[in-house]
Amino acid sequence: MTRVETTINGERELVDVAANLTLLEVLRENLLLSGTKEACGVGECGACVILLDGVPVTSCLVMAADADGRSIETVEGLAKSGELNEVQQAFIDKGAFQCGFCTPGMVLTATALLRDGSAPDIEEIKKALAGILCRCGAYPKILEAVVEVTGGSQ
Ligand code: FES
Ligand code: FES
Repeated sequence: MTRVETTINGERELVDVAANLTLLEVLRENLLLSGTKEACGVGECGACVILLDGVPVTSCLVMAADADGRSIETVEGLAKSGELNEVQQAFIDKGAFQCGFCTPGMVLTATALLRDGSAPDIEEIKKALAGILCRCGAYPKILEAVVEVTGGSQ
Protein backbone atom coordinates (compact mmCIF):
# COMPACT_ATOMS: atom_id res chain seq x y z
CA MET A 1 0.00 0.00 0.00
CA THR A 2 1.09 3.55 -0.69
CA ARG A 3 -0.24 6.54 1.20
CA VAL A 4 -1.40 9.24 -1.18
CA GLU A 5 -2.05 12.77 -0.01
CA THR A 6 -4.10 14.77 -2.41
CA THR A 7 -6.65 17.54 -2.62
CA ILE A 8 -9.98 16.44 -4.04
CA ASN A 9 -12.55 19.09 -4.81
CA GLY A 10 -10.81 21.42 -2.37
CA GLU A 11 -10.61 18.94 0.52
CA ARG A 12 -7.38 17.31 1.65
CA GLU A 13 -7.59 13.51 1.43
CA LEU A 14 -5.25 10.81 2.66
CA VAL A 15 -5.84 7.48 0.95
CA ASP A 16 -3.96 4.20 1.16
CA VAL A 17 -3.85 2.69 -2.31
CA ALA A 18 -2.47 -0.48 -3.81
CA ALA A 19 0.27 0.15 -6.35
CA ASN A 20 -1.76 -1.35 -9.20
CA LEU A 21 -4.87 0.81 -8.78
CA THR A 22 -5.74 3.57 -11.20
CA LEU A 23 -6.94 6.96 -10.09
CA LEU A 24 -10.30 6.12 -11.68
CA GLU A 25 -10.65 3.01 -9.50
CA VAL A 26 -9.75 4.90 -6.33
CA LEU A 27 -12.10 7.78 -7.08
CA ARG A 28 -15.03 5.47 -7.79
CA GLU A 29 -14.43 2.61 -5.40
CA ASN A 30 -12.50 4.03 -2.42
CA LEU A 31 -13.91 7.55 -2.41
CA LEU A 32 -17.34 6.77 -3.91
CA LEU A 33 -17.07 9.64 -6.39
CA SER A 34 -19.03 7.80 -9.06
CA GLY A 35 -19.61 10.91 -11.20
CA THR A 36 -16.39 9.95 -12.94
CA LYS A 37 -17.43 7.26 -15.41
CA GLU A 38 -15.66 4.13 -16.57
CA ALA A 39 -16.16 2.85 -20.09
CA CYS A 40 -13.22 1.76 -22.27
CA GLY A 41 -10.64 1.69 -19.46
CA VAL A 42 -7.82 2.25 -21.96
CA GLY A 43 -7.76 6.00 -22.52
CA GLU A 44 -9.85 6.17 -25.65
CA CYS A 45 -13.33 7.39 -24.75
CA GLY A 46 -12.90 10.23 -22.23
CA ALA A 47 -15.71 9.07 -19.94
CA CYS A 48 -13.27 9.12 -17.00
CA VAL A 49 -11.87 12.62 -17.52
CA ILE A 50 -11.07 14.56 -14.35
CA LEU A 51 -8.95 17.68 -13.82
CA LEU A 52 -5.50 17.01 -12.43
CA ASP A 53 -3.85 20.27 -11.38
CA GLY A 54 -6.46 21.96 -13.55
CA VAL A 55 -5.72 19.92 -16.68
CA PRO A 56 -8.17 17.36 -18.16
CA VAL A 57 -6.75 13.83 -18.00
CA THR A 58 -8.20 10.37 -18.50
CA SER A 59 -8.12 8.98 -14.97
CA CYS A 60 -8.10 5.37 -16.19
CA LEU A 61 -4.55 5.99 -17.41
CA VAL A 62 -3.24 7.63 -14.22
CA MET A 63 -1.97 5.44 -11.42
CA ALA A 64 -3.50 6.51 -8.11
CA ALA A 65 -0.05 6.72 -6.51
CA ASP A 66 0.91 9.37 -9.06
CA ALA A 67 -1.78 11.69 -7.69
CA ASP A 68 0.30 12.25 -4.56
CA GLY A 69 0.68 15.96 -3.92
CA ARG A 70 -1.66 16.89 -6.76
CA SER A 71 -5.00 18.61 -6.93
CA ILE A 72 -7.99 16.72 -8.36
CA GLU A 73 -11.35 18.06 -9.46
CA THR A 74 -14.27 15.80 -10.28
CA VAL A 75 -17.74 16.69 -11.43
CA GLU A 76 -18.96 16.46 -7.83
CA GLY A 77 -16.87 19.54 -6.97
CA LEU A 78 -18.17 21.91 -9.63
CA ALA A 79 -21.34 23.14 -7.95
CA LYS A 80 -20.72 25.55 -5.09
CA SER A 81 -23.25 25.97 -2.25
CA GLY A 82 -25.75 23.98 -4.27
CA GLU A 83 -25.38 26.20 -7.33
CA LEU A 84 -24.27 24.67 -10.62
CA ASN A 85 -21.35 26.28 -12.38
CA GLU A 86 -22.10 28.13 -15.60
CA VAL A 87 -21.10 25.24 -17.84
CA GLN A 88 -23.35 22.80 -15.96
CA GLN A 89 -26.21 25.27 -16.14
CA ALA A 90 -25.69 25.81 -19.87
CA PHE A 91 -25.79 22.02 -20.45
CA ILE A 92 -29.17 21.92 -18.74
CA ASP A 93 -30.48 25.01 -20.51
CA LYS A 94 -29.49 23.60 -23.91
CA GLY A 95 -30.39 19.96 -23.18
CA ALA A 96 -26.81 19.02 -24.00
CA PHE A 97 -27.00 15.36 -23.02
CA GLN A 98 -29.03 12.22 -23.46
CA CYS A 99 -27.73 9.34 -21.33
CA GLY A 100 -25.29 11.68 -19.56
CA PHE A 101 -22.40 9.24 -19.58
CA CYS A 102 -20.01 11.64 -21.34
CA THR A 103 -21.32 14.69 -19.48
CA PRO A 104 -18.89 14.78 -16.51
CA GLY A 105 -15.87 14.71 -18.81
CA MET A 106 -17.41 17.23 -21.21
CA VAL A 107 -18.37 19.65 -18.44
CA LEU A 108 -15.01 19.40 -16.65
CA THR A 109 -13.07 19.86 -19.88
CA ALA A 110 -15.17 22.87 -20.89
CA THR A 111 -14.84 24.34 -17.39
CA ALA A 112 -11.04 24.07 -17.60
CA LEU A 113 -11.07 25.58 -21.09
CA LEU A 114 -13.15 28.58 -20.05
CA ARG A 115 -11.31 29.34 -16.84
CA ASP A 116 -9.63 32.68 -16.32
CA GLY A 117 -12.03 34.41 -18.68
CA SER A 118 -10.62 32.80 -21.80
CA ALA A 119 -12.92 32.99 -24.83
CA PRO A 120 -12.08 30.14 -27.21
CA ASP A 121 -13.64 30.08 -30.66
CA ILE A 122 -15.71 27.16 -31.92
CA GLU A 123 -12.70 25.37 -33.43
CA GLU A 124 -10.79 25.59 -30.15
CA ILE A 125 -13.82 24.25 -28.28
CA LYS A 126 -14.15 21.32 -30.71
CA LYS A 127 -10.45 20.57 -30.35
CA ALA A 128 -10.62 20.62 -26.53
CA LEU A 129 -13.62 18.26 -26.46
CA ALA A 130 -12.40 16.00 -29.27
CA GLY A 131 -11.09 13.29 -26.95
CA ILE A 132 -14.47 12.69 -25.35
CA LEU A 133 -16.79 10.30 -27.12
CA CYS A 134 -20.52 10.94 -26.96
CA ARG A 135 -22.24 7.73 -27.95
CA CYS A 136 -25.57 9.52 -28.09
CA GLY A 137 -24.34 12.02 -30.68
CA ALA A 138 -25.28 15.03 -28.57
CA TYR A 139 -22.33 17.02 -29.97
CA PRO A 140 -24.35 19.87 -31.55
CA LYS A 141 -26.10 20.67 -28.26
CA ILE A 142 -22.88 20.26 -26.28
CA LEU A 143 -21.14 22.76 -28.54
CA GLU A 144 -24.11 25.10 -28.32
CA ALA A 145 -23.93 24.99 -24.52
CA VAL A 146 -20.21 25.71 -24.35
CA VAL A 147 -20.46 28.48 -26.94
CA GLU A 148 -23.25 30.05 -24.94
CA VAL A 149 -20.98 30.30 -21.91
CA THR A 150 -18.35 32.10 -24.00
CA GLY A 151 -21.01 34.61 -25.00
CA GLY A 152 -20.34 33.79 -28.64
CA SER A 153 -22.45 32.36 -31.44
CA GLN A 154 -21.75 29.37 -33.71
S1 FES B 1 -12.63 4.95 -19.40
FE1 FES B 1 -10.88 6.22 -19.42
S2 FES B 1 -10.75 6.92 -21.46
FE2 FES B 1 -12.39 5.49 -21.49
S1 FES C 1 -25.05 11.95 -23.73
FE1 FES C 1 -24.84 9.79 -23.89
S2 FES C 1 -22.73 9.54 -24.25
FE2 FES C 1 -23.01 11.68 -24.43
